[in-house]
Amino acid sequence: MKRFLCVVVLGVVCLAVLAAAPEEKMPKPQYDEKGQLLRPADYREWMFLSAGYGMNYSPEPGGHEMFTNVFVQRWAYDEFVKSGKWPEQSMFVIDERDAASRSSINQKGHYQTDLMGLAVEVKDSTRNPDKWAYYGFAADSKSSGAMAHGNSCWTCHDAHAAVEHTFVQFYPTLKVVAKQFRTYNEEREKVADAK
Ligand code: HEC
Repeated sequence: MKRFLCVVVLGVVCLAVLAAAPEEKMPKPQYDEKGQLLRPADYREWMFLSAGYGMNYSPEPGGHEMFTNVFVQRWAYDEFVKSGKWPEQSMFVIDERDAASRSSINQKGHYQTDLMGLAVEVKDSTRNPDKWAYYGFAADSKSSGAMAHGNSCWTCHDAHAAVEHTFVQFYPTLKVVAKQFRTYNEEREKVADAK
């Protein structure tokens, strides 16, 4: 009986391992029937690339300063670490958070509060003629259409990002990887005017 139980347990373990084995690269971008990108649900569990505070690409003073937190799917991150390149269906999310300073015991500096919106970028050359597509989500919107051809998101990313369309010059853990694979555009590190 004990031996039989052992075999059963072993069988179950094997099945569990096999079920997990096929390398499903999830999550991937999901679209509704109108072709709108669905809001990625669990992006806060993806790989965190970096946070910015009050980043502004224009010399004029900006409005209210916010935090930006950048995430990418873990499987895409893993492929980048092996190649210095982004695989098709890589998806990036910037989670924009309001900033506050004085509360509780905090005297100085800033911490993050409410979600203000999401900016999303997808690399998919079969779906998008321009390969990279850009989307904006209000704090509570569930889906978003891609920005039209010639949009300012695409233009700025194309002109200033250090690796393909991504700002790896601001993501310390990936910057070293891209330099190692020589996929890093050093020129894009120089101080520049976004216009
Ligand atoms: C004037 C230049 C500029 C414009 C316009 C712009 N971005 Fe970006 N974007 C940046 C910079 C710089 C970063 C790096 C931010 C950081 O380090 O936190 C970035 C980062 C991102 C990221 C994180 C992944 C990456 O590419 O590094 C996403 C997603 C993103 N932007 C989406 C958008 C969307 C959507 C729009 C248009 C609604 C947009 N961006 C417009 C400059 C720009």
